[in-house]
Amino acid sequence: MNKFPLPTRVVVTGGAGYIGSHVVLALGEAGYDVLTYDNLSTGNQDAVLSGDLVVGDLADKELLAKTLAEFKPEAVMHFAASIEVGESVSDPLKYYRNNSVNALNLLEALGSAGIGQMIFSSTAAVYGNPTQLPVTEDASLQPINPYGASKLMTERFLADLAQANSGFRYVSLRYFNVAGADPESRLGQDYTNPTHLITRALKTALGIFPELQVFGTDYPTQDGTCIRDYIHVTDLAQAHLDALRYLFAGHSSQIFNCGYGHGFSVRDVVAMAKEVTGIDFPVIETDRREGDPAELIAGCEKIRNELDWKPSFDDLEVILRTAWQWEEKLVASNGVNK
Ligand code: UFG
Repeated sequence: MNKFPLPTRVVVTGGAGYIGSHVVLALGEAGYDVLTYDNLSTGNQDAVLSGDLVVGDLADKELLAKTLAEFKPEAVMHFAASIEVGESVSDPLKYYRNNSVNALNLLEALGSAGIGQMIFSSTAAVYGNPTQLPVTEDASLQPINPYGASKLMTERFLADLAQANSGFRYVSLRYFNVAGADPESRLGQDYTNPTHLITRALKTALGIFPELQVFGTDYPTQDGTCIRDYIHVTDLAQAHLDALRYLFAGHSSQIFNCGYGHGFSVRDVVAMAKEVTGIDFPVIETDRREGDPAELIAGCEKIRNELDWKPSFDDLEVILRTAWQWEEKLVASNGVNK
């Protein structure tokens, strides 16, 4: 049976970014007509491998309205956002503007254009420090950093709008720690100064950073470092396609965690990065980073049962291997300069 029977038009905000670009590619491969709307503040034009790109900001209401009116999508996927927990602590208003205010602009534009289906990139950071692990979708929402709070604010917009307007339905996907790269190395993470653990570790192995810092070794976990549920970006892309199919089938609004249901410590990741690269790169232990919960593991029954999501890359080694292939490709094309 064809899982995606109807070629359909989808606008993807942030489609030139790391996760968005993997989803744009997957949408194109599944036969959708895709249009990326991205201000290229962190995204790359070359990462948009399906459909056209409109370079625009969500604050530019005129361009946004024009883009939606001309392309006439049946659904929008909203990735465009600022994503660094540490930066959100030092620059909170940037996060409320980019992640909450801009989402509001988008929702108003969707309303004016009569578009009633949306998939939203939310985050495990909405849970804060969960009291129960794995954390399920009905857990209490108590973000401990502005990043999580800014995303939670948008979840509230969505819930209230869906409540008020029966013509609007959404799926909110709460990502845990997204990592890895397209297995064919067509795409991967490509930021100028990445902060995420796996990318940092691999770039340290390449000598781009002098050492990897381990932020905190006194957490209440088995080895004292934070535990995260790392999910391969290609499996996450598939979850978006499954969510779209779910919305197009007429189901009601839902929230799903996106993770595998088990986690790895920072030390586990470092050990695997050394194994995969074959490089014993320098690692130093430093203080905790502000805003980090000790442990985050997804309860993932709901997405498996209700979206029929079937991940293919639930393997830390595969996550690191695909990310490493991508890093080696970047070095081959750019040199060791970032
Ligand atoms: N870490 C280090 N050294 C580094 C980078 C990270 O020790 O150089 C540690 C962090 O302190 C944390 C873990 O590695 O304990 C993972 O950190 P990341 O920066 O890779 O990812 P985060 O957990 O901070 O954030 C990510 C996403 C969020 C999401 C969150 C949910 O960016 O969107 O996962 O788990 F909310």
